[in-house]
Amino acid sequence: MLKPEYPITTERLTLRPFTHDDLDAIHAYSSRPDVARYLYWEPRDRAAAQTYLDKAVNRTTINAEGDIIDLAVTRNDTGQTIGSVLLILTSHTHRQGEIGYILHPGHHGHGYATEAAREMLRLGFDDLHLHRIIGRLDARNTASARVLEKLGMRREAHLVENEHVKGEWCDEAIYAMLRREWQAR
Ligand SMILES: CC(C)(COP(=O)(O)OP(=O)(O)OC[C@H]1O[C@@H](n2cnc3c(N)ncnc32)[C@H](O)[C@@H]1OP(=O)(O)O)[C@@H](O)C(=O)NCCC(=O)NCCS
Repeated sequence: MLKPEYPITTERLTLRPFTHDDLDAIHAYSSRPDVARYLYWEPRDRAAAQTYLDKAVNRTTINAEGDIIDLAVTRNDTGQTIGSVLLILTSHTHRQGEIGYILHPGHHGHGYATEAAREMLRLGFDDLHLHRIIGRLDARNTASARVLEKLGMRREAHLVENEHVKGEWCDEAIYAMLRREWQAR
């Protein structure tokens, strides 16, 4: 259903499938407590990062509900792998998708997450013909909320203590964009 041509190049970034050479880069950011703070998983040691990478290298196409495209985000100026960005087909029937992103803190605050995530919206709406794409986050994750706002997504919901994560009840915020909103942007 969706088999993008790689790499995907933007003004400052290249999005491409992960390779086994990305282990150091993935471990560098996913081992950090500040990165994992609002995610479901605990900071990853090298073995856990390897397990994740083994799955990520194959996440390059979407053929069925539940499939994920998970791409390495690299900087065009330095060639460094600085994070990952993803698109999930959450419902084939309802043509729904979800985006996500993680960047190394050394590269935060330059608009890179927004630039990379916009390409996931493009893939989802223009190529996969989705009707609606969401972003879900811990409601305290203001940087992530800002990324979704900058993408033009609407804050649709604030769920109160709907999840128990890392020993505490957490609120979840949901942002969304419809296909017609993407086309009119
Ligand atoms: C979310 C994340 C990817 C954002 O990356 P980024 O490259 O810094 O994003 P951008 O530069 O495109 O935009 C970040 C915006 O949030 C703002 N921001 C950053 N930290 C903030 C904070 N603590 N409080 C409020 N706003 C904040 C920035 O000022 C910027 O907005 P601006 O352009 O209006 O100034 C990054 O923080 C990250 O990797 N976090 C850890 C993983 C994670 O939580 N991923 C999201 C899961 S839902």
